Amino acid sequence: MATANEPLIERHTVKERVVHWAIAIVFLFLFLSGLALFHPVFFWISALFGGGEFMRWLHPLVGVLLAILFAPYAAGLVRDNRWLPADQAWRAHMWAYMKKQYHPTDTGKYNAGQKLMYWSMVPIIAVLAVTGIVMWQPWFAPIFPATGRRLAGLLHAVGAFIMFVGIGIHVYAAYWTRGSIRAMVRGTVSSRWARFHHPGWYRQVTGKEP
Ligand code: HEM
Repeated sequence: MATANEPLIERHTVKERVVHWAIAIVFLFLFLSGLALFHPVFFWISALFGGGEFMRWLHPLVGVLLAILFAPYAAGLVRDNRWLPADQAWRAHMWAYMKKQYHPTDTGKYNAGQKLMYWSMVPIIAVLAVTGIVMWQPWFAPIFPATGRRLAGLLHAVGAFIMFVGIGIHVYAAYWTRGSIRAMVRGTVSSRWARFHHPGWYRQVTGKEP
């Protein structure tokens, strides 16, 4: 947490924050409308989105919007998500870190857990987009054979499930790491936060030893 007189460090630009929260809203809509389309037990959710017909029309369009928003956002983050030797140590001590018994000395802008989330979202969003297009009635689905559409349906459901679990962990980790939500809302973190959670990144942006 930031305290008075403590220098703040910029972590996410305005553009990054706006795109990130747009992705979060879009994901929430896709997840809820996807559940309603997945099984009749959840069909009541469609009432939140103007009824089944309208929601069915909107879901693939918003899916395309997710891919359009995510692609440039993810491209801008590739550099900071490269796997480094320090990530191996963080991954090996993940549970100790959560119990506050391990203090990383070299973690860069993102830790190994964040990188794993990032590198799983990249292929999953691509798979969801491609399989969604294969199932898109009445536009693209007729081009593909029934087996292809069925396989697409299966991959779409599996991908959506993994994404739901992944984002669930992501949201919990954001809540668990005090000061992290602030980073994505206000764009800044305290230097104490940076030194503690991302010492390698602190060294890189300030030129000082954490
Ligand atoms: C309500 C939902 C969400 C919350 C509360 C949330 C929260 C956060 C926070 C606090 C950060 C900053 C972490 C830091 O600075 O260390 C972050 C980063 C990030 N978030 Fe989210 N997020 C949500 C949804 C999503 C969704 C749906 C996606 C995309 C599929 C996503 C992708 C990312 C990515 C890629 C990063 C940068 C981490 C990295 O590149 O390794 N987030 N999020």
